[in-house]
Amino acid sequence: MKHTFCRTIKKISLAVMLMSTTQFSIADTASDLSNKPWMNKQLSASERTELVLKEMTFDEKLSLLMGYFGTDSPWKNTKRPVESITQSAGFVYGVPRLGIPHLWQADAGVGVASQGGPEVRERTALPSGMATAATWNPDGGFAGGAMIGDETRISGFNVQLAGGVNLVREPRNGRNFEYGGEDPLLAGVMVGEQIRGIQSKNVVSTLKHFAYNDQETNRFSSNVEIDEAAGRMSDLLALQIAYEIGNPGSVMCSYNRVYGVYACESDYLLNQVLKKDWGFKGWVMSDWGATHSTVPAANNGLDQQSGYPFDVSAYFKEPLKEAVMNGWVSQERFDDMARRVIYPLFEHGVIDNPVPKASNNIDFKKNGLISQSDAEEAIVLLKNEKLLPLAKDLKKIAVIGSHANLGVLSGGGSSQVYPVGGMAVKDLGPKFFPGPMVYYPSSPMKAIQARYPNAKVAFDSGVDAKAAAKLAAESDLVLMFANQWTAESVDVPNLSLPDNQDAIIDAVANANKKTVVVLETGGAVTMPWLNKVGAVVEAWYPGTNGGEAIARVLTGEVNPSGHLPITFPASESQLPHEKVTGYPEVKDARFDVVYHEGATVGYKWFDAKNHKPLFPFGFGLSYTEFAMSDLKAEVKNGQLTASFTVKNTGTLAGKDVAQVYVAPVNAKWEAPKRLGAFKKVDLKPGESTHVNVTVDPRLLGIYDSKSKTWTIAKGEYQVMLATSSADIVSSVKVKLPKKVLDVRGK
Ligand code: BGC
Repeated sequence: MKHTFCRTIKKISLAVMLMSTTQFSIADTASDLSNKPWMNKQLSASERTELVLKEMTFDEKLSLLMGYFGTDSPWKNTKRPVESITQSAGFVYGVPRLGIPHLWQADAGVGVASQGGPEVRERTALPSGMATAATWNPDGGFAGGAMIGDETRISGFNVQLAGGVNLVREPRNGRNFEYGGEDPLLAGVMVGEQIRGIQSKNVVSTLKHFAYNDQETNRFSSNVEIDEAAGRMSDLLALQIAYEIGNPGSVMCSYNRVYGVYACESDYLLNQVLKKDWGFKGWVMSDWGATHSTVPAANNGLDQQSGYPFDVSAYFKEPLKEAVMNGWVSQERFDDMARRVIYPLFEHGVIDNPVPKASNNIDFKKNGLISQSDAEEAIVLLKNEKLLPLAKDLKKIAVIGSHANLGVLSGGGSSQVYPVGGMAVKDLGPKFFPGPMVYYPSSPMKAIQARYPNAKVAFDSGVDAKAAAKLAAESDLVLMFANQWTAESVDVPNLSLPDNQDAIIDAVANANKKTVVVLETGGAVTMPWLNKVGAVVEAWYPGTNGGEAIARVLTGEVNPSGHLPITFPASESQLPHEKVTGYPEVKDARFDVVYHEGATVGYKWFDAKNHKPLFPFGFGLSYTEFAMSDLKAEVKNGQLTASFTVKNTGTLAGKDVAQVYVAPVNAKWEAPKRLGAFKKVDLKPGESTHVNVTVDPRLLGIYDSKSKTWTIAKGEYQVMLATSSADIVSSVKVKLPKKVLDVRGK
């Protein structure tokens, strides 16, 4: 922390400040700015930033650093700024006289969300982040992002608080549905592509929550301890890969503490890892209520306070002004903070393409289909004893549970997107945040009935085991819908389906063996009834057109191609932590969350401990069959590449996910193997394709904290072609020379 007291600077600053408040009001709008040098598109974003920065007064810079909640806050008796958009996440005053727009911030990762209340925006929702990760299709990730970006702009926002990539290391984390799964490569690629998609529409996206906000229990106060190198090879690697691919304009620091310090005032996380090591040039915004100071926060790397009044104080308003006047925060750092906000606005075209006034002028049909195609690729077929695709001659179909007669479930909290046409089921879940529990009006049952016009499709709520079993016994086949609502701010107590659903499924399966279980869950659940049912489909939270997507997969109009982005444990006793640390939450409890498992996360833990999961990471069935062959591995231009052939040997067109895992033959890693690369292929019956993939060198190395390098040890490596982390199809060996890479893996 700097405490340099410089009287001269203080006087100059004061003079500039006084001038600024009298000369220009923040609400001044730009007249014709096209001749201004910083509006010259031929110049680089960096040159333009410097030019406009020179024009700015102290107060104008200051205004860019302070964010407000875009919703009234009765608990603090504050109103949202009048310029903000109703029931939105955030608002920051820009400098309109210079062409720097206000920042209108919307949550989150599956679409344009609304804070709860009477005036919610109705928008298109993608399937959950977890679902998108289950597609293993980076192009789809980008397309979904671009769809959100479009709706962001039309809704009048220019900052989308998306890009959630907290590694799923705690399967009971209530927010896992927002993230990209348990593997740093898969999560980093999928979320990075989504960010790239959003920003392709001239809006800024965040990357969040930086870092280690891997459980919700006491998220505001808990302190994460993890071996530094292990963190670089797990949570931070996921964020780093997403950052490199997505190039987010902003990074949101998280609520929790890391190594004893709040993430939003952690010199280690913000100045060292993010800005120095990774070279981040944009701005760090705090999560809503994650700023705890002025001087430590500013000097340790926080650029913008968000969502006041969630914090105790408006730290980045007058207190920041005073801190700069006193020299506690240097003028240079203060300028740097403003520069970091402006630069991405030029870089991503936010300044050159001002957002229009908010409207509802959205092509919901088109966007719904983008969401649906994501859902169709995300649905994972976990078990199938010839029940699926559904027989064409079914006469009596039972649909049971999870309001499947009305809609599909979504995850709760700030990321909540409200559906066009209103909620399918009213008055469910908590009255206040993170409620309500929202069902989208896309009924799987109606979509099934439309495909079976002559069959009797009957519904039972699945609340009473007897009634459900009775309907099951009278039917040719049962579609048993089960769900697990997860939401921000609360973890789930365990991995069992809630509300007695296991017992209901059991009773239904006893009554009719032809039971297909369709799960709508945030993440992994246990399945004590697995051996009794004929098929299981994991549909996650499938988004706006989820009912249609589920029906198309069940009937075979779409061949399922989702693969698990997480391990499904057989029981909680297999996990690194038998309970979520600190669960159930005691308000304000300050405890350590110790990640003793280090980088041994997800399947790596299961491999290392020789635990047999219920379903392994990467697993997913299809209605067709694939064969993989001709695996070769070689070092090309200093990089490990693998090539192989995938053939569709079945009778239906379909998509497969080829996974390449790597492991050293003699050295020891945190786990027996790591995912090194993957490729989704789309093949007609009988068709084959040759695939080449490159392995990111960091996935072959060990990070060293002292030298900040990744070292690939000289020696033999096993390169494995697989259909899941537990199903290796073939394996070859390759020799690698020793290589030392810098912190960015170069
Ligand atoms: C969440 C963020 C979100 C912010 C604004 C916080 O509670 O953790 O993910 O972007 O609120 O709504």
